[in-house]
This record gives sequence, structure tokens and C-alpha cells, in this order.
Amino acid sequence: MYKYVGNISDLSHYIIKNFVLNKHIAIDATLGNGYDTDFLSSIFNKVYAFDIQEDACRNYIYKKKDNVEVINASHHLFKKYINEKVDCIMYNLGFLPGGNKEITTLHETSLESIKEGLDILENGGIMTICIYRGHYEGKIEETCILEYLKKLPKNQFGVMVQSYLNRQDISPLLVVIEKK
Ligand SMILES: C[S@@+](CC[C@H](N)C(=O)[O-])C[C@H]1O[C@@H](n2cnc3c(N)ncnc32)[C@H](O)[C@@H]1O
Repeated sequence: MYKYVGNISDLSHYIIKNFVLNKHIAIDATLGNGYDTDFLSSIFNKVYAFDIQEDACRNYIYKKKDNVEVINASHHLFKKYINEKVDCIMYNLGFLPGGNKEITTLHETSLESIKEGLDILENGGIMTICIYRGHYEGKIEETCILEYLKKLPKNQFGVMVQSYLNRQDISPLLVVIEKK
């Protein structure tokens, strides 16, 4: 098993844990099975977790985590539900592993959400985006999101992409954005 080069989700957790200075408020933009929300709730004071799937939301609400607010709505509506700046935003795009593959994130709403997210991100905050480009919609998300992020002003945002060089070219990508 690799320690660093194994799994982009674990890598995103490592980056957030070590490089987000203020651990006040975080958003999990894609709750799913709740692994990322569990991680965020263990290190942030407050976590907002979004998912369009009612089942995913209900399953998490059963866990009764005091510092997590589950929001059964699309992540392009952050500003409708959150009236404060946040220190961290995580995306694990695509469909739920083992779930309905028809219910996947879509490039239009993902991009809209990322734009809103960058706006409500505190200075010094970090956004991570795991992109799974091995399916049709994921490939479109990759193109749109990277095209947009490439043009962000470098005096306001640092943007890095981590990819596997010696795997298939549809292997997942981790994007990390830090707001100055
Ligand atoms: C790859 S899974 C997330 C995995 C999750 N972070 C975990 O720890 O298990 C993607 C999730 O995004 C959700 N999703 C799809 N479109 C969405 C949207 N517009 N807003 C919020 N969640 C969405 C899906 O329902 C699915 O549960």
C-alpha cells in the first residue's frame, strides 16, 4: 500500500488537516456515504453537508453529529443556506460508489457551485476537488472545471492539480485551491 500516492480522498484529508489554519467552518459539497463529512466534523467546529439524494441525507442525520448540518439540496445553492464565510470546501464529484450511477454531479451545477464556493471561502481557506473522469459526465467536468480554474488570478488563488502519471489517463485527479 502506498502512503502518499494511494488515494486522492485520503490525500485531500491530509492537505486539509495540515494546511487549513482556522478550523472553524467547513462544507462537504457532496455528502454521499459521509466519509468526508465524518473527517471534517472531527476537525472543524461546524460542517455543512450537501447532497441531492434524500437517502444519503437521512442516513447521515441518523448519526446525530452535533456539529453537522445536513442540507438536502444542490451545492450550487450554497448562498441560499449559508450566510457566513467558510474555511474549507470539499468536493468528491461523480456518483456514489455502489449507488445509482444515474445520480451524478453535473458540470453546470458543479462549476456554479465552485464559483460560489470560492466567493464564500475565507482568505487562507482551501477548496479540494476530487474529479473522477472515467465516466462521460466526469470527463466533461474535468474539462470545464480545469478551464475555469486555469484563469483564476494568481495573486488571489493558488491552484494545483495532482494526477497519476503512470496510470490510465482516466485516473482521478485532485485539485487544490488555496485562497490568499
Ligand atoms: C462520489 S459521491 C460523494 C462521496 C462522499 N463524499 C463520501 O464521503 O462518501 C458524490 C455525491 O454527490 C451527490 N450529488 C450529485 N449532484 C449533487 C449536487 N448537485 N449537489 C450536491 N450533491 C450532489 C451524489 O448524490 C453523491 O452522493
